[in-house]
Amino acid sequence: MANRRSKQLQEKSLRVTTTGDIEVSTYLEIAKEIGGEQPAALEEAVSRADREAIVVIDFGSQYSLLIARRVRECQVYCELVPHDTPWEKIVSLNPRGFILSGGPASVNDPNAPLSPAYIYASHLPVLGICYGMQVLAKQLGGQVAPGAKREYGHTILHLSDLDSPLFASLPPSTPVWMSHGDKIEEMPSGFTALAHTENSPVAVMGNGDGIFGLQFHPEVVHTSGGKTILKNFVSRVCGCKGNWTMGNFINESLSRIKEQVGTGKAICALSGGVDSAVVATIIHRAIGDQLTCIFVNNGLLRREEAERTLNAFRNNLGMHIIFVDASARFLRKLKEVTDPEVKRKAIGEEFIRVFEEEARKVGKVDFLAQGTLYPDVIESVSSVSTASAKIKTHHNVGGLPAQMTLNLLEPLRYLFKDEVRQVGLKLGLPEELVLRQPFPGPGLAIRIIGEVTEEKLEILRNADYIVMNEIKLAKLYRQLWQSFAILTDVRSVGVMGDFRTYGYLVAIRAVTSDDAMTANWSRLPYDLLARISNRIVNEVPEINRVVYDITSKPPSTIEWE
Ligand code: XMP
Repeated sequence: MANRRSKQLQEKSLRVTTTGDIEVSTYLEIAKEIGGEQPAALEEAVSRADREAIVVIDFGSQYSLLIARRVRECQVYCELVPHDTPWEKIVSLNPRGFILSGGPASVNDPNAPLSPAYIYASHLPVLGICYGMQVLAKQLGGQVAPGAKREYGHTILHLSDLDSPLFASLPPSTPVWMSHGDKIEEMPSGFTALAHTENSPVAVMGNGDGIFGLQFHPEVVHTSGGKTILKNFVSRVCGCKGNWTMGNFINESLSRIKEQVGTGKAICALSGGVDSAVVATIIHRAIGDQLTCIFVNNGLLRREEAERTLNAFRNNLGMHIIFVDASARFLRKLKEVTDPEVKRKAIGEEFIRVFEEEARKVGKVDFLAQGTLYPDVIESVSSVSTASAKIKTHHNVGGLPAQMTLNLLEPLRYLFKDEVRQVGLKLGLPEELVLRQPFPGPGLAIRIIGEVTEEKLEILRNADYIVMNEIKLAKLYRQLWQSFAILTDVRSVGVMGDFRTYGYLVAIRAVTSDDAMTANWSRLPYDLLARISNRIVNEVPEINRVVYDITSKPPSTIEWE
């Protein structure tokens, strides 16, 4: 897991270019470079009011974050913390119960991570999952031993204690997902086996006093009753009422932002993406014109995108927006650039330069708003815990003016993407904006193979518009993670009427995905592909051939550059 996270981080840092949808970490990166510190105690800047919480103790499973998400789906606030988190931090979360995550270690390894003593001393309910169950067994006096073979994949769970509160509404036998090498050889005293599978006589154990262990993973979709089990744990065992709703979140956030900002001034970069849109809207609702948004048109947006974004925020929401049409500047920087990473870097640097110039004009500013989301916080959690709240910007690194000391305002810091979308809808943002597919910060520049020119941008905009339009008409837009056109640098011969043509080759890409780490090419209906192709070659004269990309990720990536 640690490796995967650091790989994600590496991939991310390559993308630190603008405030695109996916890439929410631009300022964080700038802040890090500038001060060598993570702007962090933001952690504490967000008060958690009086809400009940389930705390997931993270032992490094690749599913740990998913556990937190599933618990939140039960309308109970949940945070993931490293296994060595001090009690003071835990108690500030107002915990009602703990979940011990899975993890790659074996509890019998000499350096295996274990639960802090407060877990047991608190007398709060505990649910150990996979490695977490083995931690419980080991620490409470049972025996864990290597299994004869690793158990991986689907199996059937047979319940032996149908009266356990954990099993309410579950059928007596239900499919579950296993992934473990060690198994419980001997349960700690006071525990009984509540369910078994073919290979695990102790697939679920409990002590009748609120401590449970599951050998399987309830958080993954393959465990069909998994959500029921988690819901039973948080509501029936921990007694949570379920007060985590986006309406409550908005109310809490509004008063928190007002309190935090006081009479200060904040700035926020608007990208047209969901995260920055929701951040700007919630802050604007809290502090009105004390917020100034800066929207930089880099000239790499899709057709009508800049106008639509501006209209939505300035005219419909009445925000104070500085709009900068910097298209020509970006194009100049991209002249003769063909390497994708050089393109990204050029766009990122230019964005920071323009943003810096505009921010200076606002005068004294106290807060920089950004759309950091919970998964980003978790990725950088180790550095966050030692960092400080303030960032000092430094003009040499392309940040904000040297004398400017900014606090970060990160109202979405504890939210998952789907929660951000719910908040956006509740705040009245248009569905078209809130539910839109991700669009990369460097925009169309990484969908034009080779040098980016105004002419090519126009060709791609026209083709892309048709793709988007047809996908929406076919009602497939929301099912797809992304769908778009790529302008290749290949030209091929064609025939139009009696004439020979020599035009561009355009590729269509449509993928399904959960998180962009992996993606499958979508089996779009042939008729839809035919319509897209016909329209493109008829309506965009520079293009005479259309191909469909049928590679998944891996081995390909979603974008072509
Ligand atoms: P790849 O092409 O790596 O893309 O499969 C995965 C997801 O990330 C988006 N992407 C970017 N987003 N800046 C961004 O803000 C970038 O440089 C960038 N490159 C790729 C891509 O659209 C997909 O959703």
